[in-house]
Amino acid sequence: MDHPLRIGIWALVHGNRAALHDPEEPYDASWRRNRDLVLEAEALGYDCVLVAQHTMNPHHPDLGQLEAWTASAALAAQTSRIEIIAAIKPMLYHPVALAKMATQIEEISGGRFAINLVNAWNRKEIEDAGLVFREHDERYAYGAEWLSVVERLMRGEKLDHQGTYFQVKDYVLRPAGQFRSRPTIYVGGESPPARDLVAAQADVWFINGQPLENVQALIADVRARPRQGAPVRFGLSTFVIARETEAEAQQAYQRLLALAKQDTDIKAYVKANTDPAVAMRKTQAKYESVGTNGGTSGGTVGSYDQVAERIAQFHAAGIETLLTQFQPFEPEMRRFARHVMPRLERLRSTRRVAAPSLA
Ligand SMILES: Cc1cc2nc3c(=O)[nH]c(=O)nc-3n(C[C@H](O)[C@H](O)[C@H](O)COP(=O)(O)O)c2cc1C
Repeated sequence: MDHPLRIGIWALVHGNRAALHDPEEPYDASWRRNRDLVLEAEALGYDCVLVAQHTMNPHHPDLGQLEAWTASAALAAQTSRIEIIAAIKPMLYHPVALAKMATQIEEISGGRFAINLVNAWNRKEIEDAGLVFREHDERYAYGAEWLSVVERLMRGEKLDHQGTYFQVKDYVLRPAGQFRSRPTIYVGGESPPARDLVAAQADVWFINGQPLENVQALIADVRARPRQGAPVRFGLSTFVIARETEAEAQQAYQRLLALAKQDTDIKAYVKANTDPAVAMRKTQAKYESVGTNGGTSGGTVGSYDQVAERIAQFHAAGIETLLTQFQPFEPEMRRFARHVMPRLERLRSTRRVAAPSLA
């Protein structure tokens, strides 16, 4: 196993991840809170932050929503080590404008910036803005062409592109390539066309949280798809509840499950706006869990040792970046850094020592 294990967090762009009404975590998706959260994550040793993109709050139109790209630029200026990954839905921005924003944040961050292409599930967000919400597989055709334009412009290539959706003539962005060839490209999505896009055009695939055997199968599936260049790397989203004992963790899980049951209006609103063709919802519907993007279904609820062991199993399966969610976020993020991160270090060094003696 020569891939690293990196731990990241989801920024709280639309507040709580597991349950909206939580006395331990009042709703707060403000810039100030997110800035403090990311600065603290960086100080605690977290490696990356994903800033998801939504224009309207996807859970309730009256709730606040952090804007991903302006916030990512500001985070880039205020941090010094952590990787900043900004999500992007291609239909919201022309690829030339977006590539320019990405190269600017790359410069502000000194080479720590990444984009996460996501092909959208929230029909309302797109259609109510007067934009076209294409059907599922056509969104991927559009996204693939969009990404090919963005990728070449971010690399500083002089671009002449006459495609189905975009016509770009003799376009070149400067500065570009000051720190490395270009910002990193992640893709979040799970359907077969998402996997084709990952294999053909992404550096890293973000997988929704789910049981280990599913993740192993998904990784094998993407590795088998046609690809040129360096191998795909893999990331996994997961909601973590770690405690001294398994019983305490289960109690904390039950607390969040009970709170989440109060969010029936939010769930109905999200369901009404979701394109039924997206794979994410189908995956999420299969398992009881708390959190978004698969939540706890990867099995990261348990004692500190159990959670560390499960993460080590995901790492052995090929996961390089684990993207964590917590609730209440800040205290649980600190707890993970204090109790689980050192165990992960120990597990890794144990395995490193064990390997040569087996040879
Ligand atoms: C790690 C990860 C991050 C995501 N971030 C966002 C996001 O910021 N905004 C959004 O609208 N959807 C986001 N999504 C959801 C994708 O838009 C969703 O999976 C989309 O429907 C892709 O379709 P598919 O799963 O059918 O391929 C994310 C998904 C993953 C796995």
